[in-house]
Amino acid sequence: MERLQKVIAHAGIASRRKAEELILEGKVKVNGEIVKELGIKVSENDRVEVSGVQIEKEKPVYYLLYKPRGVISAASDDKGRKTVTDFFPLSEERIYPVGRLDYETTGLILLTNDGEFSNLLTHPKYHINKSYVAKVKGIPSKELLKKLERGVQLEDGKTAPAHVKLTSSDRKKGTSIIEITIHEGRNRQVRRMFEAIGHEVIKLKRERFAFLDLKGLNAGDGRELTPHEVKQLRSLAENGI
Ligand code: URA
Repeated sequence: MERLQKVIAHAGIASRRKAEELILEGKVKVNGEIVKELGIKVSENDRVEVSGVQIEKEKPVYYLLYKPRGVISAASDDKGRKTVTDFFPLSEERIYPVGRLDYETTGLILLTNDGEFSNLLTHPKYHINKSYVAKVKGIPSKELLKKLERGVQLEDGKTAPAHVKLTSSDRKKGTSIIEITIHEGRNRQVRRMFEAIGHEVIKLKRERFAFLDLKGLNAGDGRELTPHEVKQLRSLAENGI
């Protein structure tokens, strides 16, 4: 289910703001009835008309991007900075990222115009694993890594159990490389988790999202997900398999 104004915007008829105006002006019908409320949600099966013309749904599209550093995870940026959608100049659909990676974080991010798919993958009740490689300051002790694994207290609550593995450390430089897998997706979560144990993240890369990885891709490369991958992701979120 998606908000009516979003469905109209996604059909490419109007911006979301304009779609809201059309609704308030009584120009929008759902299943033959005029709707003037902004909050209502419609499903795939509802027939939406704008000024008497039934809207055509955009074809759903699904992409994977290896996000480079210095790119915003949003559909557009009011400061004119590069965004993840700029890597798909040929996509005519209104795509946006599924969740977010920080400006400085690199790695795997999905983009789509399918709101239900995006909600499914980002809702905290569906446990989708995301694996990161973090370069951190210092060499965390085993005890601290265990703490990270069990969950640390952040200002928005304790983190759920995670998998943590120290891959290497450089005594001379005083840095370590650590792999961490979490299934939550709070804002700047990995950076804040390491901060909580006193080891600041210097570099962060998301290497895996569920069963997807970055094999064969360089920073800035993207590809379409296969229909099978899309199905698998849905099934993973909905049924845990
Ligand atoms: N955790 C972070 O701290 N940053 C990201 O970009 C993703 C997860």
